[in-house]
Amino acid sequence: MVLPMPNPATSESDVTDVYTTTRRTFHLAAIYILGAIIAVAMAIPTIMYLLIPPRARKRTAWIDAGDISQLKTGEPVELTFQQDRLDGWKVETVKKTAWVVKESNNQIVAFGPQCTHLACAYHWDTPSDKFVCPCHGSEFSIDGKVLAGPAARPLDRYATKIENNRLQLGELKQTGTQA
Ligand code: FES
Repeated sequence: MVLPMPNPATSESDVTDVYTTTRRTFHLAAIYILGAIIAVAMAIPTIMYLLIPPRARKRTAWIDAGDISQLKTGEPVELTFQQDRLDGWKVETVKKTAWVVKESNNQIVAFGPQCTHLACAYHWDTPSDKFVCPCHGSEFSIDGKVLAGPAARPLDRYATKIENNRLQLGELKQTGTQA
């Protein structure tokens, strides 16, 4: 009786094939797993950004605009202050201004710094006793009313309150079209 002799060449090739296949499978699996981890890591911030709304900033939050103890009646002053602004997930501090007027009844009025025509920065013109916009010539009285166009509505006003001689500014509101 003759027993079949194992073919060493065939056997070695099979082992190599199995080894190669196993290694290739392992590498492919590793690449897929790595790819999946990277995709998930990149997707999480995007999903959070899209689905979770940023912390809503209270519109009623008051901003300290500075000391107004030296303010003189009927002499508008431009106050500069810092305000935190939420830009997506980032909080930025921006410089802002307001024109502040102490009225004869000691009331404090704060106007937004932009002209109500096309948002240029206006200024107080002492000789003529009015706010003047350099862009297209709009003019406003000391109480914010339109004296000359093209602006069609009065200056916007901040909500205001005073605490320890410091002006606190709230929401900036439009005052509507002037009659
Ligand atoms: S932006 Fe002020 S007049 Fe046009």
